[in-house]
Parts: sequence; structure tokens; C-alpha cells
Amino acid sequence: MGRVLVTRRLPDGGLDPLAAHDLVGPNDDDTPFTPDELRAHAREVDGIVCVLTDQIDAALLDAGAAGRLRVVANVAVGYDNIDVAAARERNVVVCNTPGVLDDTTADLAFSLILGASRLAQDAEADLRAGRWQGWGITQYLGRDVHHATLGIVGYGRIGRAVARRAAGFDMRVLHHTRTDTGEPGYVADLDDLLRDSDIVSLHVPGGPATRHLIDARRLALMKPTAVLVNTARGPVVDEEALADALHAGRLFAAGLDVFEQEPLLHPRLLDAPRTVLLPHIGSASQATRTQMARLASSAVATVLEGGSPPNVVS
Ligand code: DGY
Repeated sequence: MGRVLVTRRLPDGGLDPLAAHDLVGPNDDDTPFTPDELRAHAREVDGIVCVLTDQIDAALLDAGAAGRLRVVANVAVGYDNIDVAAARERNVVVCNTPGVLDDTTADLAFSLILGASRLAQDAEADLRAGRWQGWGITQYLGRDVHHATLGIVGYGRIGRAVARRAAGFDMRVLHHTRTDTGEPGYVADLDDLLRDSDIVSLHVPGGPATRHLIDARRLALMKPTAVLVNTARGPVVDEEALADALHAGRLFAAGLDVFEQEPLLHPRLLDAPRTVLLPHIGSASQATRTQMARLASSAVATVLEGGSPPNVVS
């Protein structure tokens, strides 16, 4: 039996795989632990079940390694909040939750594709504010999604799940990854994909390698009628440049579920026209979040019981 820190409240049943272990946390009111609190706890536990808002950095891993920390499992598929190299150096196993959230996240990406293209946010805002004076043939003229060209950036499980949905809308689907997939629709040069797409959906991992992948130069390559959707990680897009493009009408619309400095929002994105903004809810269905919690808990239990889980990233 081990001692496991659980940093945040998880969906019911999410911690069942850790039933035989001694759990510490989360705070009663679910407030995130401060970095100091996390470090103090890390010294005294064998495992940590954390979420993407916890910074699992070298200092925390030092504290854990000075104690008995053996495993950290992120209840997320992305793990840009964890210093994986530092964990590896300290023999701490890092796990994530691949596979269980692909369809739920792809559903949300597709709802942003539809909502942004059809100006759902601006139209609803007018309705709620009492600005709608009745039907008009030139109101809220969006862009068609059916038959449009969808450019998928990052073609892992979630990108592919978005592509499957696009087939139902008779879309032409392009994809870009750093290594050639050898599959129809592959575009080697991201700039070419951006030039050619009516809608671009981002599905690359976060981290230094993809920071501001979509910057002012690349936004300028996109068609002025194009729509940009981001359900990956906020820093993949330069928000200042995106806000400029939206305000200037150089990009038709955007659908964003993730932001550069969550939970802070760039003020010029908040008032940008033709923009749908959601608070990082890509995987937020009851069933999926429960599965994610169970997968992370199960990985910690497996390591503490001497096994090796399938979802190790380091
Ligand atoms: C992930 O899993 O990385 C998502 O962003 C959180 O749902």
C-alpha cells in the first residue's frame, strides 16, 4: 500500500483503482495547491495524481525524489505541465490518459468548427442582449462547413477523429504533421496547408516546440474567409496576433477552447468579433472525465504495485 497525493477533486469513481492506497488531498474546497504546498506533499508520497494546472517541475520532482516519489499521473493526454526530462533523471515515472478522450475532444472541436463558421456566438449574444429586431436575409451570414477544405494540424488520435467527422460533412480534408503519414491529404509544408484551407483545426501537443506555431506570419497566409479552431493548447497560437487578425477582418472567425495564460483571457480576444470562446472543456463529458481519472489512478496503482502501466510517457 502506498500514499498518493490527489491534487484536485475528480469525478465519482475516478479514484476506484487506488482503493487499496492511502490518499492525501484534494483540498476540501478543491482549491489548487500552491507550488509550495505541492512540493511539501511531494516529499511524503509515493505517487501523485495531478491535473494540467499543476506545475510538476524540477523543484517539485527534487522534493519528491528526496522522499519516495515514484510516479506522477496527469489526468490529461497533454503533459506540457510536467518536466518529463527532469522526472526521467529522478526515476519518476510519468503517465497520461491517451485514447479515452479522443472522440469527446473531437466532438468539441467540431462544435467549434460549426459554431465559429456559422457565427453562433455573435448571433446568440445579440439575441440575449435584446439586439435582434427580427429575421433579416442578410443577417449573420456565416461560412458553409459542408464541402469546405479542412486543414488538420497534428494528425494523432484526436486529429484523426476530427477527420472522421469531417467526412460526414463532405469536406475535403488535408493534414500536416512533421513526418509524412503517407496518407491521402498529407501536406508536407504547414504554410501550404494554411493557404489552402477554409477551416484549420489544431491538434498538436503543447510545449516549446509548438509555441506560437500559428503566429502573425502564418495567420497572414490564411484566407481572409478562413476559420481557426484551437482545442490543443493555448500557446500554440499567438493570441495577440490572432486578436489583431480578427479585429482587422483579416480572418473570418475563430473557435478557441484553450488560451495562452489560462484562466486569463487576452482582453482583445474577449471582445473580438466572430469568435467562440470556451473554458477548456474539450474532454469535459461525465463519461470521459471519469475514464481519464480512472486511467490515471490505475497507472499510479500499477506502478506502486510493481507493474508497468501502458500509458507511460517517460
Ligand atoms: C488534455 O487531456 O490534455 C485536455 O486538454 C484536458 O482535457
